[in-house]
Amino acid sequence: MGKTIKLEVNKVLSFISQQEIDSKASIAKKCNETLHKGDGKGNDFLGWLNLPSSITEAHLNDIQATANSLRSKCEVVVVVGIGGSYLGARAVIESLSNSFDLLQKDRKNPVIVYAGQNIGEDYLYELLDYLKDKSFGIINISKSGTTTEPALAFRILKSELEKSVGKEESKSRIVAVTDAARGALHTLAKKEGYKMYVIPDNVGGRFSVLTPVGLLPIAVAGLNIKKLVAGAAFMEKNTAPDVAFENNIAEQYAVTRNELYGKGKKIEILANYNPKLHFFAEWWKQLYGESEGKENKGIFNAAVDFTTDLHSMGQWIQEGERTIFETVLSVANPAYKVEVPFDEEDLDGLNFLKGKRVDFVNKMAELGTQLAHVDGGVPNIKIEIPELSEEYIGQLIYFFEKACGISGYMLGVNPFDQPGVEAYKKNMFALLNKPGFEKEHEEIQKRL
Ligand code: PA5
Repeated sequence: MGKTIKLEVNKVLSFISQQEIDSKASIAKKCNETLHKGDGKGNDFLGWLNLPSSITEAHLNDIQATANSLRSKCEVVVVVGIGGSYLGARAVIESLSNSFDLLQKDRKNPVIVYAGQNIGEDYLYELLDYLKDKSFGIINISKSGTTTEPALAFRILKSELEKSVGKEESKSRIVAVTDAARGALHTLAKKEGYKMYVIPDNVGGRFSVLTPVGLLPIAVAGLNIKKLVAGAAFMEKNTAPDVAFENNIAEQYAVTRNELYGKGKKIEILANYNPKLHFFAEWWKQLYGESEGKENKGIFNAAVDFTTDLHSMGQWIQEGERTIFETVLSVANPAYKVEVPFDEEDLDGLNFLKGKRVDFVNKMAELGTQLAHVDGGVPNIKIEIPELSEEYIGQLIYFFEKACGISGYMLGVNPFDQPGVEAYKKNMFALLNKPGFEKEHEEIQKRL
């Protein structure tokens, strides 16, 4: 792996100084060491830390074999899951797949669709309608096995699959990814004899993309999971505590964003200039939002697709409240080449670009935007990705995970819990009068 993703912070230096960044280097290093010593907050959820380097070839081969079996039987695979049991797989699959894959006639890969990430009745109806005449399979992912959204979707999809191919055949088309010993999905998978993969106890949802939670759907989509893991393992080594701060991009990113936060930049927008990265940003939002947004503190994470959103949110970013900073995901080299053709009449006035690549225009938009945003009071961090490939997406995943752990510790919170996500569930169960929530049901009725 010759190249690596790069972090550039020179466009934050008119807001915070290099000295300010360097003065926090030792704190970031300590936080990184704390992660590796395993004696910090949430230390029972550090299974992701050495995960890339500890995944065995045999484990990856086993996942690949299951993926191949689904690929051979199914035109469509429905990936059921929400939050950390959904976003990582979708982030990688969409980053690395053809944007028009779904519309190709001679597809090499099954269509991957998602369910259980919402409770939209129309969404489910339309999905069932689409699946009606298709040969499909299901990967059901839930660590707890009790999350309402995926459990509801799975119940409906399982019943449809059984109607379509019979109970016996359906068993070979359903794979469960869940807890090693507990939960409704574990019990069901055991009873039905589904192929089952375990989500390690010490890996939380938003850090689980390199477990079967992400790897199985990614392999089904036809992507190379060995290269993905190798990229992450490379970054694991390159962000270890023994790597000097000057070379440790995870520590540098953690320091830079915390310094900006301390200067009143309470919102971080992750901007991409490649639409394939839309879901990568969704994954990032969960990773940072759920890890740091607690104890009444934490940067608010948002994401924008540029240049698309420059024609909408661009106004706010340029001139709205000055509480934001921007982290740009920049892909250095596109996979393909499209050049601007010469036009005899030049009615659109674009002949000055003749022979230039579309990516050249995109890169000038990126640079122009960064400079404009800095001028408008928006500090800019840039993360350059050499190209969209499994290796570099693997690097990017681990980079963000590691920086998130360090950043959360710098902020003083436990980056590995998510107590706040329970509040809506409690109210929803009370409103639904779920058994066990009778008292809450009575109480909540009085508030309506
Ligand atoms: O990060 C998290 O913990 C959450 O986003 C969970 O992954 C999400 O709620 C799904 O949980 P489960 O896998 O238990 O169904």
